Amino acid sequence: MEVILADDYGFCYGVKRAIKIAKDSADLSKKVCSLGPIIHNPQMVKSLADKGIGVVEEVEDMNCGKIIIRSHGVGPSVYEKIQARGLELADATCPHVKKAQMSAKKLADEGYKVIIIGEKEHPEVISIKKWAGENALVLCTEEEASNISFVPRLGIVAQTTFSADKFNKIVSILLNKSYDIRILRTICTATNKRQSAAIKLAKEVDMVIVIGGRNSANTTRLAQICAEHCVVHHIETVDELQDDWFNNIKKIGITAGASTPDWIIKEVYEKCKTWQAY
Ligand code: F3S
Repeated sequence: MEVILADDYGFCYGVKRAIKIAKDSADLSKKVCSLGPIIHNPQMVKSLADKGIGVVEEVEDMNCGKIIIRSHGVGPSVYEKIQARGLELADATCPHVKKAQMSAKKLADEGYKVIIIGEKEHPEVISIKKWAGENALVLCTEEEASNISFVPRLGIVAQTTFSADKFNKIVSILLNKSYDIRILRTICTATNKRQSAAIKLAKEVDMVIVIGGRNSANTTRLAQICAEHCVVHHIETVDELQDDWFNNIKKIGITAGASTPDWIIKEVYEKCKTWQAY
């Protein structure tokens, strides 16, 4: 079976960095936990658990030890709580996310109404909104942008993983909503590169296997993008591959979300390559 890997796939810089910070924090002499799963990948979360790194949902769940902030980041009150409880801190907030948070804060401090273009429920967007203050708004669609009222000063930032294309469309509507507009295009290029590589791949093959957590927004997005060009299956592990997917398929493409570990990608690649043997 011919199997082609996308030109760009798998762990991004921020995720690699977060996992390194987590692994470096492992210390069996004390409690070490990440605040929420370190990345959206259950297999990696389990692998960290095997090294003694647990997961807590709230800062209040820890009375001592070290807490790791994941790449999505958190709002200022979480840092305050960590300090108030005397916990050690390992901050794995991705520097690109940190930049979006600080940009939103600066705009709010300068009197701009802050608009975050992104998905409302995404943890990163929630964290940026916390830095931007009470009046900040999150918009995800052109329709939502059309519905906002005119404001004197408008400051715009983006979820780092938001589609550049959608961001541009929403911004073009917001241009009519104020006299004084500042646009900080806080989109991270890792996502764009991965998405462009996925489109190129999907055009070359009969089927794309997208590997990554089902709860990973960027992996799901890769699957949606590829589905516009060929058959797509989204899996988390090699065990999910099914015989009947391979009928009449000559060329398979493989891509993976920003939080998919290399070992899982390798397993899928190897199994697809030797598929005829099964
Ligand atoms: Fe950071 Fe971009 Fe990854 S924002 S976490 S490097 S997708």
